[in-house]
Amino acid sequence: MTTTIPAIPVTEAVTRAALEVSGPAYLYDLAHLDAHVAAIRARTTGLELLHAVKANPDPGLLKVIARHADGLEVASGGELAHVREHVPGALLAFGGPGKTDAELAAAVAAGVHRYHVESFSELRRLNRAAAEAGVVASVLLRVNISTGDTGGGVLTMGGVPSPFGMDPVEADACVAALPDLPAIDVVGVHAHLASGLDAEACAAQGGAILLWATEFARRHRLGLREVNVGGGMSVEYGRPAELFDWQKYSRQLLSLVPQGFDGVVRVEPGRAVSAYSGWYASRVLDLKRSHGEWFAVCAGGTHHLRTPAAKGHDQPLVVVPVESWTEPWPRRATEEAVTFVGQLCTPKDVLARRIEAGPVRVGDVVLFAMAGAYAYNISHSDFLMHPRPEVRHVGAR
Ligand SMILES: Cc1ncc(COP(=O)(O)O)c(C=O)c1O
Repeated sequence: MTTTIPAIPVTEAVTRAALEVSGPAYLYDLAHLDAHVAAIRARTTGLELLHAVKANPDPGLLKVIARHADGLEVASGGELAHVREHVPGALLAFGGPGKTDAELAAAVAAGVHRYHVESFSELRRLNRAAAEAGVVASVLLRVNISTGDTGGGVLTMGGVPSPFGMDPVEADACVAALPDLPAIDVVGVHAHLASGLDAEACAAQGGAILLWATEFARRHRLGLREVNVGGGMSVEYGRPAELFDWQKYSRQLLSLVPQGFDGVVRVEPGRAVSAYSGWYASRVLDLKRSHGEWFAVCAGGTHHLRTPAAKGHDQPLVVVPVESWTEPWPRRATEEAVTFVGQLCTPKDVLARRIEAGPVRVGDVVLFAMAGAYAYNISHSDFLMHPRPEVRHVGAR
């Protein structure tokens, strides 16, 4: 089976940079990102917007996103220090399982705005760190609840046995222990249960989280000031033109806010914010026909762009023709479907399979689209000791 990947508009700045770089490169289109996040912001009136830094910690991207978002969600001491250095003053939420005592102390010292606490034991350790610093930590209890059918999120992290968040009984135990935890102020509930949800499913899931949180607070006579319903907004790698419908999402989510809750509704998307503004640029090094199938061996590979291997999809791509050809022998070319692979010595190093991408020649540039989230930063860049990709910001803002 072959796939025709729909054309994705490539800006002149991205194409120019792709032709300029000498090896594989990440090209981040900051002008595109600026417009994209501004559009998300305009469509999410009534919601507080955090950005999940784990999607892409590139400082250039974070600076643009932070201009539009209410704050950033970090999930490790490393991300915390990185964000403090590159985006000083950004309001921070600190989440993630397995926080160490050193990370909690660093977060307290950095003046983190909200702590997403994942277990009773973590709550006690945070109480100690905050008490030692003479501050009170504002906490959202991260819960792992079942919200019923979420509509087929591709990555389910909640409502099933998982290391993320706490079961409702443990959340009950946390509240019961609050009199003994004077440095903790529980201001709300947090849940991130799945990724890859469309607007309707994501809003329904958020509504169920809001309902659960409101009921939880009522039962415990807890003043519920905030609910963070997480991220997980879909990015359709097979249908790049189908963007997450932020307006529909926020309208539906806000319509599901239960009576009795008039606090802040917060979201923390990652992928759907930065995915579209990143490109992975490569060149066709070799083109071969093997047992009836064409392969384009591209500079770099899944050790730079792990996303297609991690998610099991074909990375959308555009071939940019390069006319100059200086070798004395003829240039190899094909118009048939091509499988685009990298330079690694493993059959798993596949970026896109059997793609009808038009004519492909050795020396042409291949621009892999939607490479701005969970791409370079989740990749095993040292495997085989190839050079790391260059990172360039284009369309600077
Ligand atoms: C706690 C938490 N919040 C937010 C996100 C961002 O999710 P996404 O990038 O799917 O929007 C994640 C991703 O794993 C997460 O674990």
